[in-house]
Amino acid sequence: MTVDKENIRRRVEALKSVPTMPGIFEKISRLIESSETAAADVANIISSDQALSAKVLRLVNSAFYGFPGRISNVTHALIILGFDVVKGIVLSTSVFDMMLARGLSGLWEHSLGSAITAGVIARRIKHPDPEEVSVAALLHDLGKVIIRIEIPEESSLIDEAVEKKEISVYEAEENILGFNHSMVGKWLSKKWNLPRALADPIAHHHAPGLARLAPQQTAIVHLANVLIRARGFGFGGDNLVPQIDMKAWEALRISDAILEEIINEMDEKLEGAEDLLSDNGS
Ligand SMILES: [Fe+2]
Ligand SMILES: [Fe+2]
Repeated sequence: MTVDKENIRRRVEALKSVPTMPGIFEKISRLIESSETAAADVANIISSDQALSAKVLRLVNSAFYGFPGRISNVTHALIILGFDVVKGIVLSTSVFDMMLARGLSGLWEHSLGSAITAGVIARRIKHPDPEEVSVAALLHDLGKVIIRIEIPEESSLIDEAVEKKEISVYEAEENILGFNHSMVGKWLSKKWNLPRALADPIAHHHAPGLARLAPQQTAIVHLANVLIRARGFGFGGDNLVPQIDMKAWEALRISDAILEEIINEMDEKLEGAEDLLSDNGS
């Protein structure tokens, strides 16, 4: 089996100049970058698309709080959560659609479960912005779906290697492509101008020691990814549970008692999330 790595790299890199997201995301991004933008301006754009605002609200409530109705309108979401978080949520609704369209509902469940878990961890260790950490977790494996869409043949080889050799997706990607989904996520975060608190965990959730801009958020997303895989919720592309990075673990200073609380709360919240998954969140 020979794969032209350079060719693949060029093709994926070309993504950086391809508008993958719908126009509304670009519009919101532009608005947010202007310092004169008010919450109402962004809320108007999102609210003008009813399907989008319904998705945003459902995602906000289930991924952040584990139950429906806490945040009931888009303006409320913007005021409570801030522009960057809502921008991440709008992006997540597109990622969600892409995953479902490719039959990757297991990956979506993995992403949503990671977001819920990351929020639980963040609150327990009193991180100042748990919702932002949740969005980072929601988007952390974004590179996997992009690989699936942009290089489907290699993607099949990756699936095959995972199954035959019983290795992780990450390892299979490295073997076959010479890079992995977190690298693809990093390129796209740059293209979409994602804030560092989202970009760093997307780029480094498998190697949290490399996170320089948002190390704590990255450590939380890293741990959430391990816990949700250990819990067997959703499907991240293989059935292996990655090891917890010891430095990230130590930096989070989570005692055994707190870890137990985290796991219990995670279980409760995941049950609440089943609703969102059962009707595909549309
Ligand atoms: Fe990952
Ligand atoms: Fe993951």
